[in-house]
Amino acid sequence: MAPPSINCNEEINWDEIGFGIVPTDSMYMMKCSTEEDTFSEGTLVPYGNLHLTPSAGILNYGQGVIEGLKAYRSKDGRIVMFRPEENGRRMKIGAERMCMPSPSVEQFVKAVKQTVLANKRWVPPLGKGSLYIRPLLMGTGSVLGLVPAPEYTFLIYVTPVKTYHKGPLNLVIKDKLYRAISGSGGTGGIKSVVNYSPAYKALKEARAEGFSDILYLDAATGKFVEELSSCNIFLVKGKAISTPTAGGNNILPGITRKSIIEIAIDLGYEVMEGEVGVDELMEADEVFCTGTAVGVNPVASITHNNNRAEYKTGPEAVSQKLLQTLVGIQTGHIQDTRGWTLQIE
Ligand code: COI
Repeated sequence: MAPPSINCNEEINWDEIGFGIVPTDSMYMMKCSTEEDTFSEGTLVPYGNLHLTPSAGILNYGQGVIEGLKAYRSKDGRIVMFRPEENGRRMKIGAERMCMPSPSVEQFVKAVKQTVLANKRWVPPLGKGSLYIRPLLMGTGSVLGLVPAPEYTFLIYVTPVKTYHKGPLNLVIKDKLYRAISGSGGTGGIKSVVNYSPAYKALKEARAEGFSDILYLDAATGKFVEELSSCNIFLVKGKAISTPTAGGNNILPGITRKSIIEIAIDLGYEVMEGEVGVDELMEADEVFCTGTAVGVNPVASITHNNNRAEYKTGPEAVSQKLLQTLVGIQTGHIQDTRGWTLQIE
């Protein structure tokens, strides 16, 4: 089969995109009422504002979950998505926790694919970024009391992006500052929409102090590392790589995190998931973080109280090898032996 012509958008200067919204052509919408309880038929509509009742569950009580995944141009100009069914599964888990019906994994993947194809001119050329895909499941029915909304909307919009951070991160740990509603029954392990904006105030202060992001500790003991505001964390000591256990009430089970663990094992590292203490972190050779938005991003330093630990970064760093392998698989430069990529054009 001949590779498709690369129908890229000539209106846009790809060198100028960052991590922000560029309005695209179409978005996907599918509705479900609690009487029906299942999502049936979705449709593509022009990208634009939503019409919502002021008493929508999402607006008043934050009843919603998000996802984040990307579509890439492969080396031969095709459009490829990375493990979209994992996002569909994670959205279902989040929806269950937030008392919402959710699309099936098949519906999720089909809808994401349709949305990307309808916006294919916004997928950046190879090496110029990716198309960020934001599925959003929200209570759009009207509520006043604390009850689940009577109607839900599954929406997907897309926007071309480059990486979230520019270069290695300088992190700060602030005692007694926690990321999400963590601990028993908390929502730190899902992508609830309310897990993010509570960090803004502390993030604004940290950025004004010259830090890139905050690294949060566990609320129960304040001794163990959890995650950053928008991504998971790993540390490297010799040939061993450690990362906090995800998937409970506190830490998001990142899909990039999960993929990097497999890649690291393949490259001969010993990977440990468990509790990661602050002391251990301050003594690491290298630290890096992972996420859809951030990719694999090296950490240059972590400051905790009056201590500042500095870590190895640069082309020889383990994080670089892991990133190159991940990107290689996503762009077709390295053979995908695990079926992680889904070619959609
Ligand atoms: C992602 O990595 O896709 C996220 O959802 C992080 C976002 C808060 C920027």
